[in-house]
Amino acid sequence: MTAQRRDMASRKLRHIDVCRDGDVTYHGVTTGLERFRLPYNGLTQTNLGDVDLSAEFLGVPLRAPVLVGAMTGGAELSGTINRNLATAAQRLGIGMMLGSQRVMLDSALGERAVPSFAVRDVAPDVLLVGNIGLSQFFKDAIPEINRALDRVGANVLAVHTNPLQEAMQDNGDTDFAGSLDRLHDLTPMLDYPVLLKEVGHGIGANAVADLLRLTGEPPVAAIDVAGAGGTSWSRVEQLVRYGELRYPDLADWGIPTAQALLEVRSALPRIPLVASGGIRTGMDAAKALALGADVVAIARPLLDPAIESADAATAWLQGFIDELRICLHGCGAADLPSLRKLGALPVT
Ligand SMILES: Cc1cc2nc3c(=O)[nH]c(=O)nc-3n(C[C@H](O)[C@H](O)[C@H](O)COP(=O)(O)O)c2cc1C
Repeated sequence: MTAQRRDMASRKLRHIDVCRDGDVTYHGVTTGLERFRLPYNGLTQTNLGDVDLSAEFLGVPLRAPVLVGAMTGGAELSGTINRNLATAAQRLGIGMMLGSQRVMLDSALGERAVPSFAVRDVAPDVLLVGNIGLSQFFKDAIPEINRALDRVGANVLAVHTNPLQEAMQDNGDTDFAGSLDRLHDLTPMLDYPVLLKEVGHGIGANAVADLLRLTGEPPVAAIDVAGAGGTSWSRVEQLVRYGELRYPDLADWGIPTAQALLEVRSALPRIPLVASGGIRTGMDAAKALALGADVVAIARPLLDPAIESADAATAWLQGFIDELRICLHGCGAADLPSLRKLGALPVT
């Protein structure tokens, strides 16, 4: 194994360690969801047990509008995490994003990495989202990316754009010049729809304006705003690289999730939209859905339960979905379209 490959594998495991034990949440930035409240209705006419959370995302039905966020793959521990999360997703009828499949594109490591991403046997029905970085999204890699998605049985490819994370990383991919053109040119060459995501620093109005500049249409099928307020990847990378926070201002830089969501939804009223970044409770999810998201995604809070067992991951997610259901009940929304019609109110 070359030193570079060893680095890739050990960095993934360091990410997991730091995310479990480190202080990786934003300090000075919140999601902004606390600035909204759901309109509670003491005269709701709903029956809690009948509240319908069913949704559809990119053509795949979901029993609740929830995705397991993109986290991991490649190492043995990643395989355990992915299988436990996938088992939970199958039981609950929700979707799941895999972590970066970059390692699968490596000629030497790729084959060995496949089992850690292979979850279709335990999750035959879930919406499964593959993952690759925008900095690995090159024409030469497209056949390999298609093959990597085929091999895991993905429905969709998430392409993550993470300039701040990469800039904080030792030997990160810091050349994003031409990446927008590549998105336009290469997405039609894929056999899968593309969901563009950040990793927790946010996609907002400026990025959407850039996405639309070339043709007036986004070159992607869906967007995950992955905003600020939850896990800060600038913070994670600094802790991994220096063992301390050397650039605190950069660790707290990003577009709050609620703001990113409102900006993208206003520019693209119909695009399938994921709200993520600091989504921690069913109430956070309900507010994000009321503000225009189609589904929400949760990453870091699922790490510990996923390492423990499929039952622990299922219990965490079930509690989250139960709370979301109560939120709809409490504001008189029998289903997600009704929640969206009610909206969320700014706290004055
Ligand atoms: C351990 C870990 C690994 C991650 N790896 C990836 C990845 O490979 N690809 C990706 O697009 N996002 C990755 N993310 C980012 C998450 O998908 C998400 O965008 C971010 O953590 C913000 O969500 P959160 O506040 O719920 O954690 C990772 C997150 C965690 C916690």
